[in-house]
Amino acid sequence: MTQSARKYLIAGNWKMNLNAAEGAALAKDVVSLVGSQTDVAVCVCPTFTALESVSQEVNNSNVQLGAQNMHFESAGAYTGEISAEMLRHLFCNFVILGHSERREYFGETDAIVNKKTLAALAANLRPIVCIGETLEEREAGKVNEVIKTQLEGALVGVTAESADTLVIAYEPVWAIGTGKTATPEMAEEVHAEIRCLLAGLIGEDAAQKVRILYGGSMKPENADDLLAQKNIDGGLIGGAALKANSFAALVESAAKAGK
Ligand code: 13P
Repeated sequence: MTQSARKYLIAGNWKMNLNAAEGAALAKDVVSLVGSQTDVAVCVCPTFTALESVSQEVNNSNVQLGAQNMHFESAGAYTGEISAEMLRHLFCNFVILGHSERREYFGETDAIVNKKTLAALAANLRPIVCIGETLEEREAGKVNEVIKTQLEGALVGVTAESADTLVIAYEPVWAIGTGKTATPEMAEEVHAEIRCLLAGLIGEDAAQKVRILYGGSMKPENADDLLAQKNIDGGLIGGAALKANSFAALVESAAKAGK
């Protein structure tokens, strides 16, 4: 399989920002800038409360909708939680799982991320599974060890049939919201390692189909070099996704890089 089989994906993680009206306004601007292009897959992930209003704005465009989290059960006594089916009913195609902020502040473990990943796949929701090391782990030379544990932990029971659907996001924790980006070479080294681990889990052909996004202070100024790397198939964008112009510039970067 050639690399071109993996179309770039630029996904915006809006985190806990923008209410329903503000989210709709941003989505409207994003749609007007990049809503009709087809070279790059584009997705925005608002808060739960903005999903419906954003859904109405991106409807009939090429901008897809994603959520930032979900519960692994389909229904029941889980106060405050939302299921994969509920997200599908709001026309979500993607869901971010195991973001480092959820791991750090909400105690999400690899086992929980695994249950969520399997539940998302079963509901036809495309999981964007986040993995990445802390600065301490990097300095201790443990990057590969951490990546392997998180990836294998998240993907227990995931088969080669899910390869087209599955998305992995490598987000070095020290690069998130800090303005510090992994150099393209540093990022590519880890992305190549992730693909190698995927090959061990689901086979080489399937591993070539999985999109691996980079996340962590990605912005228009550094995107070209990151997206030029062989195993970087797009970005999971935080801060730069909150402005339509910078988000659109990242989509343009990906279109220019041309997978
Ligand atoms: P920043 O782009 O703000 O560093 O956030 C990255 C991120 O956490 C995306 O999920």
